[in-house]
Amino acid sequence: MDVTLRKGTVDDAEELFILVQDFATSFLPDKLAFRNTLEQVITDESANLTVALLQENIVGYCLGFDHYAFYANGRVSWVEEIMVREDLRKTGIGRKLMDEFEDWCIQRSSQLIGLATRRAAPFYEALNYENSAVFFRKLLTEV
Ligand SMILES: CC(C)(COP(=O)(O)OP(=O)(O)OC[C@H]1O[C@@H](n2cnc3c(N)ncnc32)[C@H](O)[C@@H]1OP(=O)(O)O)[C@@H](O)C(=O)NCCC(=O)NCCS
Repeated sequence: MDVTLRKGTVDDAEELFILVQDFATSFLPDKLAFRNTLEQVITDESANLTVALLQENIVGYCLGFDHYAFYANGRVSWVEEIMVREDLRKTGIGRKLMDEFEDWCIQRSSQLIGLATRRAAPFYEALNYENSAVFFRKLLTEV
């Protein structure tokens, strides 16, 4: 399957929002808030938004970030969201998106990639990620 990757842009808003609605479980995505967030993300040099395209349609995306951490002697990176259109899962698109994110992290001399997952542990295990911590959170807004 001829899936290509490129950086996300504001022009992707409509198509991306459809995938984001499927991804979100704790929050109800709001279109205006999504658009504002997209504008922030694509101008943030510590953010990486990559979209996967099949016949010019967006069929997946990965959003990740990095920041400095004392414990790692430099940058660490986090996968915030990764999503592949349901009917195209298990065809290698998620791996391709993660490979691209990893390349970006390596270019920026990041020391590790972390992420939290409830639903996709077998996917990350297949990509040689190891279970290393328990994830805690506190919601700071009413949902
Ligand atoms: C998780 C997700 C992004 C994976 O994308 P994908 O395109 O289906 O993954 P790939 O086809 O590239 O799979 C890569 C490897 O992971 C394995 N894998 C993927 N999903 C799996 C699953 N649910 N169970 C077991 N293995 C899985 C594949 O078999 C493949 O292994 P292989 O290369 O050794 O054959 C996709 O299932 C998805 O969008 N899920 C809903 C959103 C979600 O849960 N995102 C992650 C939140 S942190």
